[in-house]
Amino acid sequence: MTKSRDNREDHNPGRRKFLKGVGIAGAGAAIADHLWTEAEAHEKQGTLSGNVKVTLDVNGTARDVQVEPRTTLLNALRNHLEPAVTGPKLVCDVGTCGACTVLLDGKPAYSCLVLAVDATNRKITTVEGLGSPESLNAVQAAFVEQDALMCGFCTPGFVTTISAYLKKNPNPSLEQVREACKGNFCRCGTYPRVFEAALAAAKSTAG
Ligand code: FES
Ligand code: FES
Repeated sequence: MTKSRDNREDHNPGRRKFLKGVGIAGAGAAIADHLWTEAEAHEKQGTLSGNVKVTLDVNGTARDVQVEPRTTLLNALRNHLEPAVTGPKLVCDVGTCGACTVLLDGKPAYSCLVLAVDATNRKITTVEGLGSPESLNAVQAAFVEQDALMCGFCTPGFVTTISAYLKKNPNPSLEQVREACKGNFCRCGTYPRVFEAALAAAKSTAG
């Protein structure tokens, strides 16, 4: 999987420019630029290795990983960590669906639009870090109880987004939940159950 994923990126040089344009800012941009320059210098010298070591704080654990500077956080989590973190899903890969949502310092972010090198010094929380099979968080439990998924690909993103939102607004209306989820798409049309689960989770936490 790593191989095919990486091969696909190798055939997609536009991603680097795209990410430089929309995915990074400030000090992170400077670091990424520096790392890209370094990697490009390696390429020009004929050396194939443009990898850099980054340490990611994933669900409270420091994880070292070797990646190319252009590697997205989503790719690093799913394909470069061992063991992999596969809760965030690869669906659109261009920041339109929300299936890859993780929390960066508690705020939802599309991990397909964040470079791994830009995620250092941030607390990365994936759906795995919200609860465990033995101890689901309120949103995870409500999704199970309300049967709020069909294919399930969008589900980790919704659970992550809603979990963060309920911390901000523990007693939301249906309209507010819909608004909070506007960056997450479900192609199966499970929205009513998703929203019911969010409201049930809020109720169970309040109760
Ligand atoms: S996979 Fe990241 S937004 Fe769709
Ligand atoms: S359950 Fe969301 S896309 Fe199918």
